Amino acid sequence: MGFRTLDQAGDLSGKTALVRVDFNVPTHGGPSSLLVSDDTRLRAALPTIRLLKAKGAKVVLLSHFDRPKGKRVPEMSLRPVVQPLSKLLGEQVLFADDCVGPRAASAVEALAPGQVLLLENLRYHAGEEANDPAFAKALAALGDLYVNDAFSAAHRAHASTEGVARLLPAFAGESMREELSALHRALGSPERPVIGIVGGSKISTKLDLLKHLVTKLDKLAIGGGMANTFLYAQGHDVGASYCEKDLADTAREIIRLAGQNNCKLFLPLDIVVADKLGPGAAARVRELGAVDEEERILDAGPETVERLERAIANSKTLIWNGPLGVFETPPFDKGTVAVAKFAGALAKAGKLVAVAGGGDTVAALNVAGVAQDFTFVSTAGGAFLEWMEGKALPGVAALQVKD
Ligand code: 3PG
Repeated sequence: MGFRTLDQAGDLSGKTALVRVDFNVPTHGGPSSLLVSDDTRLRAALPTIRLLKAKGAKVVLLSHFDRPKGKRVPEMSLRPVVQPLSKLLGEQVLFADDCVGPRAASAVEALAPGQVLLLENLRYHAGEEANDPAFAKALAALGDLYVNDAFSAAHRAHASTEGVARLLPAFAGESMREELSALHRALGSPERPVIGIVGGSKISTKLDLLKHLVTKLDKLAIGGGMANTFLYAQGHDVGASYCEKDLADTAREIIRLAGQNNCKLFLPLDIVVADKLGPGAAARVRELGAVDEEERILDAGPETVERLERAIANSKTLIWNGPLGVFETPPFDKGTVAVAKFAGALAKAGKLVAVAGGGDTVAALNVAGVAQDFTFVSTAGGAFLEWMEGKALPGVAALQVKD
């Protein structure tokens, strides 16, 4: 697929592999006792670490954590990751409290083949985010080869994601490989018909995405708060709903582009409204245009859900980003959960390639209890979105082999 993977790396025994992982994990607790609250990203790094260990390489892990902006911010240390990672790996992971310079060099020097060392937060150095060539060179000096296993950071052109890949033999790690191949299956060369679902509240953050998707997909369903702007643009009253009225022209432009590109657009047919948003609030199904002044649209209606399920059943591939309603607050999770379950069942039965991504979407699939039934669920936020927008990701581009 245009980049080298570890099975093409040859003999790695005794070689030092610099592995870019994304350990920017959710945490809880105070500054001196930070605990990892979701270890998904640690687990994602295990196949690559294990593969390199099996090949006899010395494994040096590079990651950022949070945004310390070039300063040593103690509460943004990667040290709290060491213990949970050691537990998952079943052996002690070593730690060096800098990622370049003498402390990093001597820790790398002391490694035996098969050992794993985590270096301190890359973003303690301003050179990381600036993609400073001198900083990239200092990182590269620590290893013999570079492996990028951090798709979720690949939209950043930083020294550890881009610069260093140009200085050492560079490979895609196992998670990166799996993610790129799933994404390729969903949007690169999907089995058709392919349907997209884009939800969430704001059109303003997803303009590039919608404009790109209508050129790629056979069908596109729009849900969540952003559907209100489309309804408003078509002359429907949206009451007190969240709505980006100043983007009505843009919504009409997207409707026109979809028509031009033979992408069938699915906007809500009916909606669920309430006077206020709160758990168990009295929800009512309304036809389009029948929304009272004080009512807010908070979910897709049953007819909308049914038509969307039919459209999914008639598709071979689904790509999903963003919920259809305010799924965090029942009963407004109904539309999202119903469609998620429907798609999950088809994917589980091997009748649909279903790929989803983005923080909200993953949370919604977990509420529906179907994340494991989807073909692939990406935990990348910004990187998933930029990839769906058709943008080249610097961290992926730097791995590509020119021939
Ligand atoms: C993420 O958590 O999405 C990635 O680690 C990127 O983090 P960033 O937005 O701080 O670059």
